[in-house]
Amino acid sequence: MKAIQLNAFGEADVLGLSDVEVPVPRDEEVLIRVSAAGVSFVDVRQRLGVYNQASTRVGGISFPHVPGSQAVGTVVALGPTANRALHGRKVVAHVRKGAYAEYLIAPGPDCVVVPDDADEAVLAAIPMQGLTAYCLLTASTVLKAGESILVHAAGGGVGSIAVQIAKIMGAGPVIATAATPEKRDYALAMGADFAIDYERPDWPSQVLQATGGRGVDVLLESIGGDVFERNFECLADFGRCVIFGSARGPGKPVEPRRLMTRCQSLAGFYLPVLYDDVERTSQGLQFLVDHVVAGNINVRIAEEIPLAEACRAHRMLEGREVIGAVVLRP
Ligand SMILES: NC(=O)c1ccc[n+]([C@@H]2O[C@H](COP(=O)([O-])OP(=O)(O)OC[C@H]3O[C@@H](n4cnc5c(N)ncnc54)[C@H](OP(=O)(O)O)[C@@H]3O)[C@@H](O)[C@H]2O)c1
Repeated sequence: MKAIQLNAFGEADVLGLSDVEVPVPRDEEVLIRVSAAGVSFVDVRQRLGVYNQASTRVGGISFPHVPGSQAVGTVVALGPTANRALHGRKVVAHVRKGAYAEYLIAPGPDCVVVPDDADEAVLAAIPMQGLTAYCLLTASTVLKAGESILVHAAGGGVGSIAVQIAKIMGAGPVIATAATPEKRDYALAMGADFAIDYERPDWPSQVLQATGGRGVDVLLESIGGDVFERNFECLADFGRCVIFGSARGPGKPVEPRRLMTRCQSLAGFYLPVLYDDVERTSQGLQFLVDHVVAGNINVRIAEEIPLAEACRAHRMLEGREVIGAVVLRP
């Protein structure tokens, strides 16, 4: 089969198309013929080798490596103890690796059956990016109805889904940030009540204005750099800031005692910690699929790209060109 295989860390052109053996499912695993695989910023960071640095304290990868952690496709073979009912069904899968390929092995319990006529491209952007958004708001903190929330980079995959989940949970106001007018329009179309340009130096005061001067109860932080410090200008008393990315680098060291005087909390989130928590991840994936099918969660597919051009998809994400998500089509 054709697969994108990584044999070294580096720029996007390390993502070469290779011929590899079709994998054989073992135990509870299933073999999925992939129809669409979602591309995420995590794939970019992994390709750059960021997760293989001791300083990140997170798990790395070994070569050769087929990237990709989210896909949609049809189950075509089963491991000896896999759930027989999955055979022939269209599923979404959240996996640790391997989705940039014509065939993918996934643990059966990590697959959720979807209707045959469901939008494959939209669902392909859901498993990893959607689970991140879902778990940020249900595990790292619990967003309550009526609470205000700030979602940074809401023009991207995780951010745009987080906006929609926050609305489903009854939060408000839901405030989005994004760097371009097109991305801000997209965040508003996804349900955000306000969309703010966080390249403008006065963005924290705009957040304060949108919350009647209180600041937000929950803040989803994936940017880092200069943005990290400024978050505290618009976090409410008892506000919870959840860190799950560092697109602009880590920023300055944190002084924990600054949290005390305003009763604030800082939490972290890293999806691989939940890899073995099948109950939570299955529940999250089912929630996401149900809401996509019901039309409450949508993802704009910026482009569907042939598998062989995975490097172009990565360049689009690195160039911050993508509004919504890009998916690969084998
Ligand atoms: N902790 C976890 O388990 C976990 C899981 C999934 C994702 N993540 C993180 O969550 C974030 C969003 O992931 P995603 O897949 O949704 O990404 P995405 O679709 O590529 O969106 C990322 C957004 O970040 C903003 N950004 C700011 N500075 C950037 C830079 N230097 N390079 C690229 N983008 C930049 C861009 O928005 P503007 O152009 O509007 O600034 C972009 O739309 C990433 O930081 C990713 O690493 C973490």
